[in-house]
Amino acid sequence: MVCQDTIQRNELAHIDMRSDTVTQPTRAMRDAMANAEVGDDVYGDDPTVNALQERAAQLLGKEAGLFVASGTQSNLVALLSHCQRGDELLVGDCFHIHRYEAGGVSVLGGVMMGALATDHRGAMRTSDITAAIKPDDLHCPISRLLCLENTVYGHVHDAEHINALATAAKARELFVHLDGARLMNAAVKLGVPARLIVNAVDSVSLCLSKGLGTPAGSVLVGSEAFIERARRMRKLVGGGMRQVGILAAAGLYALDHHIERLAVDHTNALRLADQLNRIDKVEVKEDLVETNMVFMKLPDGSAKPLRKYLAERGILLGGGEPTIRLVTHLDIDVDAVDKLAIEIRNFFG
Ligand SMILES: Cc1ncc(COP(=O)(O)O)c(C=O)c1O
Repeated sequence: MVCQDTIQRNELAHIDMRSDTVTQPTRAMRDAMANAEVGDDVYGDDPTVNALQERAAQLLGKEAGLFVASGTQSNLVALLSHCQRGDELLVGDCFHIHRYEAGGVSVLGGVMMGALATDHRGAMRTSDITAAIKPDDLHCPISRLLCLENTVYGHVHDAEHINALATAAKARELFVHLDGARLMNAAVKLGVPARLIVNAVDSVSLCLSKGLGTPAGSVLVGSEAFIERARRMRKLVGGGMRQVGILAAAGLYALDHHIERLAVDHTNALRLADQLNRIDKVEVKEDLVETNMVFMKLPDGSAKPLRKYLAERGILLGGGEPTIRLVTHLDIDVDAVDKLAIEIRNFFG
């Protein structure tokens, strides 16, 4: 199921395990992009964008969709559409929205972020959500929104868990947004349609440029009324693009061809974890490898020299000390996994 042109590229190029965002568009995806019918999307005239938005909404069981430039923009536009200045949103302390989006919703939207504890798999407790929702008291910000994420650092949260968290929030009239940058990895792993996982949430951000392998873009989905507000917010943050069907065509191609193959990335991640665990100095908790991410714990002081050693051999790893994240994706095949494991074994002698 690995695309032929991807395999050929791997033979020539380096092995890049930093993230699943590093993928190159395949030849077939580039053809789809080159042949895309386009129009001015700020006028709503781009047929390829419109088709992608409808497809994504249908896939996730929501009324409407909005194509945006990135996962960060998708989350930001969603949060600005749900919240007003002076509102508070609740979010897992390790989630991307809380840690890695430059605090955009607070900077631009005047929205406070209340961080809730997460466990080793990124799961929150319903009791913590209930306890964190503020009373109707003029001293407090208005708790407006709960933000979920799936997968979280590669961990899969099933519909039952998402429903329980969403129900706790909705009981107190909060909206619920889910950062589904890698939602399709969760759906493939669980073997259920993605819409069943996000049934109880109001809005979902789905990234096309992670495991799905496009050069850029995310789709935000929700009710018609929500997407109308989001369209205005997208404009406000400078995200209204014009003949962007060229990118949407890559997204449509990915939804047709790159969802089921995520299972290959998951299998490769398990293979990598198994091989790494055979190396004395390396530790991977294999039972925590649920999708395409492997967390490799190294002896103190060895992460930096290992990174350098591998870089000299054309292999790129992400940051972190003593634990490094390795991500499998469209451009990583079995040979790449095996080569990486061999080189790490060589490094440790
Ligand atoms: C869980 C999650 N959400 C959102 C994003 C943001 O996506 P982007 O880099 O396209 O802005 C990322 C990026 O890696 C992510 O991992």
